Amino acid sequence: MPLGRLTLALTLVAVSYCPHGESLQPPHQQTPGMAFPAEAPEIPPPDFALTVQPVLQRNCSPCHFPSGVMHGKLPFDDPETVREVGSRIFSRIRKPEDQATLRAFLEPDKINGSSIQ
Ligand code: HEC
Repeated sequence: MPLGRLTLALTLVAVSYCPHGESLQPPHQQTPGMAFPAEAPEIPPPDFALTVQPVLQRNCSPCHFPSGVMHGKLPFDDPETVREVGSRIFSRIRKPEDQATLRAFLEPDKINGSSIQ
């Protein structure tokens, strides 16, 4: 049916040249689900697990690790807990290389601007 085909072709042309075609999309489309949850750690967990956690495990096991008496209140396998404790940790961890590891995690800005390489 030639007339039908012509109508279809004209419709397609009209649609593709429609000047308002783009406004069918909202110009500033929200992207839901892109915001990070508030409790997300700032430092990626692999870094913490590979550097800080072994230091704490050596010094503070078993109490602050699973099955320890303090794991419920102060779990040191959780980077957020370690951030909250902050510099109070240095009174208990005294080896300079262990302190440096913790300092790099807790105060990365100071480390980057300091003489520690
Ligand atoms: C033998 C078990 C045990 C070990 C090992 C241990 N803790 Fe604790 N920790 C506790 C207990 C029990 C408490 C709660 C009572 C208290 O405050 O002393 C506590 C509380 C704390 C607190 C909160 C109270 C405060 O003083 O600020 C911090 C911080 C802490 N521990 C850090 C550490 C660190 C860092 C290490 C490793 C270097 C460590 N702990 C090793 C048992 C332990």
